[in-house]
Amino acid sequence: MKTTDSPRTYRVKSFGCQMNVYDGERMAELLEAKGITPAPEGEAADLVVLNTCHIREKATEKVYSDIGRLVKSGAEAGKEPMIAVAGCVAQAEGEEIMKRAPAVGMVVGPQAYHRLGDMLDRAVKGERSTDTDMPEDAKFAALPKRRKVSPTAFLTVQEGCDKFCTYCVVPYTRGAEISRPYSELVDEAAKLVDAGAREITLLGQNVNAWSGEDAKGHTLGLDGLIRELAKLPDLKRIRYTTSHPNDVTEGLIAAHGEVEKLMPYLHLPVQSGSDRVLKAMNRSHTAESYLKLLERFRAARPDIALSGDFIVGFPGETEAEFEETLNIVDAVGYAQAFSFKYSPRPGTPAAGMENHVAKEVMDERLQRLQAHLGRDQYAFNKASVGKTCDILIERRGRRPGQWLGKSPWLQSVFFDSELQIGDTVRAELVHAGPSSLQGRLLEQVAA
Ligand code: 5AD
Ligand code: SF4
Repeated sequence: MKTTDSPRTYRVKSFGCQMNVYDGERMAELLEAKGITPAPEGEAADLVVLNTCHIREKATEKVYSDIGRLVKSGAEAGKEPMIAVAGCVAQAEGEEIMKRAPAVGMVVGPQAYHRLGDMLDRAVKGERSTDTDMPEDAKFAALPKRRKVSPTAFLTVQEGCDKFCTYCVVPYTRGAEISRPYSELVDEAAKLVDAGAREITLLGQNVNAWSGEDAKGHTLGLDGLIRELAKLPDLKRIRYTTSHPNDVTEGLIAAHGEVEKLMPYLHLPVQSGSDRVLKAMNRSHTAESYLKLLERFRAARPDIALSGDFIVGFPGETEAEFEETLNIVDAVGYAQAFSFKYSPRPGTPAAGMENHVAKEVMDERLQRLQAHLGRDQYAFNKASVGKTCDILIERRGRRPGQWLGKSPWLQSVFFDSELQIGDTVRAELVHAGPSSLQGRLLEQVAA
């Protein structure tokens, strides 16, 4: 690699989950602290960070085609950008990327990106580097202070996963479960609120496995952290995602009934409705134990909106087993859900299992599952019509004069009134569509 001028502009492209969105924002802040500014829309950047996802599909191939596209357009413009590959593909395939893609100057894993600045200094001198360590040193403490944020902010409280579901690559790419310290999180949340956040979503691969210690040395679970953050006067809403059924505590369920700022929404993946499949997935819960958990959440907060993740076509899944997934969907009545075709991930136990399900069968099952989920989402939206609630305005809609916010149940609600980002408005939900609602403004609550 040749020596090069220091980059003046950057672009971070994040793929995949909300944790990647958070990491992408932190990398952007780190680059800005070095005086590098975001590339204007439509203009080529001097430095491109591809913040990748490895969870499904041919994610790796997508990274190579993105790199190819950047090299080609750079060559046409007479200046190739510096390229950094970050995220879970970097972690899983770092060495391979370095070998296959000479245009890539930096490969940095999700636990090491606080060192991106040093890597960049080396790249300017013409040195390529890979950092996929999972160091003990505090990544978060090494990152620059948070800048101005949108009214809805993410806060990563926990990373990694020890569950080893047999289809999943996360325990390998994100490493073992770790919780960020309580005082650091309370501090960061307060700064986010000072910078304009009105809603904070606590993030973690297994967010409800978070544990910490307060100043008195008492052990706290996620509910303890939520109760503390709820004391921040200007913070209006708290959410968390993603949870695992095995880490649900009585305290967390109770918090849904007691903490007003904790939104009535729960994302609790089940993956399948068949106990045989759940066992093969190493999920350590059954369809029945999952349903019982949901009953307890509903007892604490009757209006709670439920969301989940589903995989169709796990190796060996029969038609009858798939129908058990449809049955659990019908039994729950999800307000929203995410559903995927099983995708073999290299190095995971399921990839080596027998009886992989044919692609056409998976396609057909996914369609049937999504028909049930779509029906239930629409039903949930229709049942919300007539309700009055607070909406936090997040952005403009596509039509001129249109604004979009989220209901407490995480539904998208459109308005045709003139509003501002960060407004909280009292509204009546007047019309339901399959994936959004129309709101009627009643009054402004607070900015
Ligand atoms: N194939 C398909 N879906 C997967 N997920 C995780 N790994 C795979 C895989 N190999 C889904 C799960 C998880 C969500 C984040 O992605 O449903 O909850
Ligand atoms: Fe993956 Fe299972 Fe961990 Fe979720 S709980 S991140 S699906 S291993």
